[in-house]
Amino acid sequence: MQAWRSVNVLICFYSRYGNTAKLAEAVGEGAQISPQDQVWIRRVPDLEPDDVIRQDERWWRTRESLRARFPEPQIVEFQRADALVLGSPGYFGTMAAALKHWLETTMSNLWQGAEIEEKAGAAFCTTSTVHGGNEQTILGMLTVLMHIGCVISPAGYLVPTLRRNQMPYGASAVTGPNADIPPSEEDLAMARALGFRVSHVARVLLASRGQEEFRRHFRQWTDPPPTP
Ligand SMILES: Cc1cc2nc3c(=O)[nH]c(=O)nc-3n(C[C@H](O)[C@H](O)[C@H](O)COP(=O)(O)O)c2cc1C
Repeated sequence: MQAWRSVNVLICFYSRYGNTAKLAEAVGEGAQISPQDQVWIRRVPDLEPDDVIRQDERWWRTRESLRARFPEPQIVEFQRADALVLGSPGYFGTMAAALKHWLETTMSNLWQGAEIEEKAGAAFCTTSTVHGGNEQTILGMLTVLMHIGCVISPAGYLVPTLRRNQMPYGASAVTGPNADIPPSEEDLAMARALGFRVSHVARVLLASRGQEEFRRHFRQWTDPPPTP
């Protein structure tokens, strides 16, 4: 295996009131293992028109601030990413429509392409209640990542001191009925650990992809048999 490779990590999230954005930043901190790594933290746009968003002053204000800090994801970033991390608030036990919409739009032409093979993948979310579907929301995002062939990098029980609150599927935070309890230091630590792990897995995959032996074995399973 080659000594060291820098990786591109795309963290693609939706957030209305900013809590999920905080987890996204923590995932990004963890993913930046070496200064050469590219970590792109990107917010997918709202689906609702301005006049709807404006009716909720907090949503409007937060949206303006998030848009100033986090650009929208670009297809070229998706193609160049060695790791893809998805994040969303849980909306009725599943990811927000804005993120699903972005994925469907972006991947409709890409999901079978060689350029998306062998990325590492991970997911995080926030919900208002403990049993409000946070695990379900993460599993939904992981399902999408599986459909594009990602090697899933789950949280496991990564950080022993945080075992009381964490879940093994990804990073999460519970923000309360008014979405006004920001992620705790423990939640952020867990998100950083997840970012580190997915970035590390991406690096291992990238290094092994460069090996001729790996390519030879991989082709044996993926290339059509030679015509007699
Ligand atoms: C349309 C909608 C549906 C929601 N559905 C759920 C839900 O099923 N379970 C839950 O615990 N919280 C639910 N919530 C609350 C959000 O998941 C929670 O406030 C989240 O932390 C917001 O993240 P954000 O600050 O990044 O926007 C819902 C919120 C909205 C607006």
